Amino acid sequence: MLLHGFPFDGSMWDEVVEDLVDDGVPSIALDAPGFGRSEVPDGEPGLELAADAVVATLDELGVDRAVLVGLSMGGYIALAVADRHPGRIAGLALLDTKASADSDEARANRLRVAEAALGEAGADAVAPMLTTLLGETALEHEPDVVEEHRARLAAAPPAGIAWAQRAMAARPDRFDVLERLAVPGLVVRGAEDQIATQADAEAMASAIRSGGGDVELVVVPLAGHMTATEDPSTTAELLATFWRRCLV
Ligand code: MLT
Repeated sequence: MLLHGFPFDGSMWDEVVEDLVDDGVPSIALDAPGFGRSEVPDGEPGLELAADAVVATLDELGVDRAVLVGLSMGGYIALAVADRHPGRIAGLALLDTKASADSDEARANRLRVAEAALGEAGADAVAPMLTTLLGETALEHEPDVVEEHRARLAAAPPAGIAWAQRAMAARPDRFDVLERLAVPGLVVRGAEDQIATQADAEAMASAIRSGGGDVELVVVPLAGHMTATEDPSTTAELLATFWRRCLV
């Protein structure tokens, strides 16, 4: 089950899902609350609600345990599932994400973006993300990838942007969750990621390892924060191999 990054939706995974399904890996990509076909929920924004929606979908599908894959915000949601519903996870793949909470400065910035999105700026509030989401290889040499991401940012729903920024601002540090999960782990990072650092990736891998989970950390060359859209075929190969590792 694939969980997308901010401020995209499940279609972010289309190429990866196509490769996975061709490779015999049953896969589904969800829309987080406020994005794609998911409504903005009522009440206080929180990723716990997004996590419960993941489990409700597993229930609907009749799936007891799934390999969860989360990229960036999707990783935060996967960690919230691991916190609240650990028995539903057969393996956890964390891409371009981190288990730490935000700094005060990052939190304040998220709340500013949320306000701006609901005001005059709308989706323009997230336009500046383009140059940090993509790696320098894509920014300098792959105009189609740049254009696709620019268009996706421009189409992001303002109410979803605001909900997700507030929900991400409220998330706690979840290293303790990784330490007690004890399932196979895969940590992936684009070598050119400017948002989630190598230290973030290593800290997650070591928390999984200290909890007894078998973990692999892979750095994907020439990709930035959006490994799954900058290099979908490598991402799909890594996930297919990981899924098979989780079956045994
Ligand atoms: C994402 O790609 O989901 C975002 O960069 C997450 C974040 O803002 O921390």
